[in-house]
Amino acid sequence: MSQAGQQRSPDTSVSLVAVEKYFGDVPAIRSLSIEVDSGEFVVLVGPSGCGKTTALRMIAGLEEPTSGEIHIGGHRVDDVEPADRNIAMVFQNYALYPHMSARQNLGFGLKMRKLPREEIDARVRRAAEVLGLAQLLDRRPAQLSGGQRQRVALGRALVREPSVFLFDEPLSNLDARLRVEMRAEIADLHRRLGTTMIFVTHDQVEAMTLGQRIAVLNEGALQQYAAPLRVYQEPANLFVATFIGTPTINTIEGQLATDAGRSVFRASDLTLAFPDAGYTGAAAIGVRPEGLELVNVGASDADLRSTVNRLEPLGNELLVYLDGPGERPWVARVNADSRCTPGELIGIRLDRRRIHLFGGEQQKRLATGTVA
Ligand SMILES: Nc1ncnc2c1ncn2[C@@H]1O[C@H](COP(=O)(O)OP(=O)(O)OP(=O)(O)O)[C@@H](O)[C@H]1O
Ligand SMILES: [Mg+2]
Repeated sequence: MSQAGQQRSPDTSVSLVAVEKYFGDVPAIRSLSIEVDSGEFVVLVGPSGCGKTTALRMIAGLEEPTSGEIHIGGHRVDDVEPADRNIAMVFQNYALYPHMSARQNLGFGLKMRKLPREEIDARVRRAAEVLGLAQLLDRRPAQLSGGQRQRVALGRALVREPSVFLFDEPLSNLDARLRVEMRAEIADLHRRLGTTMIFVTHDQVEAMTLGQRIAVLNEGALQQYAAPLRVYQEPANLFVATFIGTPTINTIEGQLATDAGRSVFRASDLTLAFPDAGYTGAAAIGVRPEGLELVNVGASDADLRSTVNRLEPLGNELLVYLDGPGERPWVARVNADSRCTPGELIGIRLDRRRIHLFGGEQQKRLATGTVA
């Protein structure tokens, strides 16, 4: 029971239960089950065409699932009209009305819904306050900067006072600096409103910085649904490990055999033992750029060797791009004052605790960290 005078916050959770969507016989979403808690900020991330927009449009009611169930606030909404789902969606192409002022753009949807004039004015004022648009309400879109226009677009969703916000790549039309600024504003908006938000992006940095949990999709299938750090440190499979993190995780392919109760990975000169993964056959290891240490090429403890291709000094750290050691080039993230030069032969030592082992069905992560 809630205390007297205190209102229990309403259930604004969203859940998808085994939702599938086919366009003809092309599967866009394959048996997707996700639960978004009331007030949670969840990011759907994945490469182009993986089904992010389709998933969002089904939640909004703009697209009908082929099978499965969608619940909002604990109620099944499959038969509820989009307008009655109490959801607001912000799109990438936010298309403000060019001949209307910011104020009119903000209030337009409410006017269409025949809300009383005073109510519209009050909501527009509140949204403008929250988004820092109060001084700009009489300007037309052409008289606003890109960021201010995007804020008006957000405001249009805000004035509806929905229980769930859906964002479909709302920042992708902005330049890099504005993106970062608006990202912070959206995070701040979520903190202040506490509204359930589902945000779609193919930008993994955006996903990592915004989401309380992130759902990684590939080819319509959910790969992992967890907190950002968890996804980074304990990726469910090789796809997730590769998709999340910049620069990309370093990988090398080899074979896994069982030997004396351990799983032993071999790739040319490299031999690493992991706890028994119960699998033998083709496998790969992955080590993030910060898990590499560059040592003298002659060092006896070097695991691998390669040639320095180019350097990217970022001020606080140095990215060293290598030609190998395998088929694919690797990259090391090292101290800013490390010394090495392009063309130089170099030794690579792997941080044993940070080596991931992938193999088997869907290249699942079988282990992290080696054993002696
Ligand atoms: N109306 C449609 N008719 C047929 N196929 C569609 C339709 N809408 C989407 N698709 C297909 O469904 C798949 C998922 O599309 P969707 O737009 O959801 O991807 P996305 O993850 O949002 O991609 P992007 O990052 O490029 O926006 C794609 O293969 C796409 O071609
Ligand atoms: Mg899309």
